[in-house]
Amino acid sequence: MIVKKMYPPDPALKAQSIIIFGANGDLCWRKLIPALYNLYLTDHLPEFFFIVAVDHSDIKEEAYRKHLLEGVDQFSRSGKADRTAWKNFSSHINYLQGDFTNAILYDALNKKLKACDLKAGQRCNRLFYYSVAPRFIESISEELYKNKTASQKDIDRIIVEKPFGSDWASANKLNTFLTKRFAEKQLYRIDHYLGKETVQNIMAFRFANYVFEPLWNKDFIDHIQITVAETVSVGSRAGYYEQAGAIRDMIQNHLLQLLCVIGMESPKSLHAEAVRNQKLAVLKNIRPFTKASVAKNIVRAQYTAGKTKDIPQIAYRSEENVASGSVTETFFAGKFFIDNERWENVPFYLRTGKCLATQSSVIAIQFKNTPHKVFKEDVDANRLIISVQPDNEISLWFESKVPGLEMKLKTVEMDFTYRESYEEQLPEAYEALLLDAMKGDATLFMRNDQVETAWKIVMPIINEWKKQVSTGLKFYAAGSMGPKAADELLKKDGREWYAHLPKK
Ligand code: BG6
Repeated sequence: MIVKKMYPPDPALKAQSIIIFGANGDLCWRKLIPALYNLYLTDHLPEFFFIVAVDHSDIKEEAYRKHLLEGVDQFSRSGKADRTAWKNFSSHINYLQGDFTNAILYDALNKKLKACDLKAGQRCNRLFYYSVAPRFIESISEELYKNKTASQKDIDRIIVEKPFGSDWASANKLNTFLTKRFAEKQLYRIDHYLGKETVQNIMAFRFANYVFEPLWNKDFIDHIQITVAETVSVGSRAGYYEQAGAIRDMIQNHLLQLLCVIGMESPKSLHAEAVRNQKLAVLKNIRPFTKASVAKNIVRAQYTAGKTKDIPQIAYRSEENVASGSVTETFFAGKFFIDNERWENVPFYLRTGKCLATQSSVIAIQFKNTPHKVFKEDVDANRLIISVQPDNEISLWFESKVPGLEMKLKTVEMDFTYRESYEEQLPEAYEALLLDAMKGDATLFMRNDQVETAWKIVMPIINEWKKQVSTGLKFYAAGSMGPKAADELLKKDGREWYAHLPKK
């Protein structure tokens, strides 16, 4: 349970109108409203804030608030909502029903927003959240632009949910469309992985601890593994996932962003542009894939029936709305290189998949072995494990002497866990991201060039797959850790995937 704290008001936080398009959708229910509620509980919202929930569903305001409360009770990190706090918080929520493509909605929205300004006695900052299917982005933007609803470049901001385009051309087209209507500094393209506390901590770990910096390069690091394993299936999202697959859903965004945080040079400052420039430099230096390297270094696979966590799981091709001969990949593994001085020829192995044996996001930094052998027995090389979730820890694996009269070695761990070091609960990624957007801090959001460069990296892979259709698609049983080919990818380099099993 979070206790409502009284922080001094943050001067960067001005009166806000938060307009959520797609407010009766799953994201709003599970993530956005619980995040805003927790920001309210911890006094991170300004004195004047208004949530305008826009959706096409025909639902009465009271019923809508009740539905949101159920979401908070179920998904909020602070547990079931305190009824008084919820009553106060939810009195800030207004429901506006309408068709995103109909001009009438935007008249009503303008009136609502003006009423908010009147109540606050000032023009509120406006934060628009596009939690909608990509096909609505252009119509909503056009209406906001025509009606001058988001015209104040310094205080009106737009958060665009992923997927941002479905390939480089569509992302580029969308960027052109948006930047004709809004300034780039108004556009906040979200990648929620960047808002995760443990991902933000990688910046602190790397750039506030000089002890690791001299080791953070090709001279000391053998390779890096980034795994985002999920036990969940595609569930009811097949409509979207069939077109996306793991490469568009996870690799182009979340995993490449994790790679950037691990691979980037130290930014000049924590200013948004300084940080984003360094991340962009990593993306630009990723070795382009060719027909040959796609064949050699990339594995795509799809789950067949099996058991995840002892629960029977049907094959991907039997899921609702999935074509019976679908070649959509639910698993991806690949070997990437960053062609710069720091990382020359250090492989970054990335893998992600649905219906895997374990739910965990882990980065393993594998150091090289000691060059000179002093001990008779084999010595395991050091390894640094950054567990993004669910363990939330950083541990360094090193060799130690087993107590006794002989010289025997064993690998032991030196751990940092949030649980042991902090009393504070970890905020949810969406809390951090919504708060940053309200303050106008875009550090953790994607700039247009970052998104497009990330697309450029994956396009040769997508194009090769298009040519080959199903050739090369592998299969793995639900509940396993992916296809054999993914293990082979490392085996042929004399390496193996680090098998991380969550401790909880
Ligand atoms: C989303 C993907 O962006 O990230 C989902 O669309 C995936 O398919 C999710 O399950 C994973 O996020 P998290 O925060 O649960 O690791």
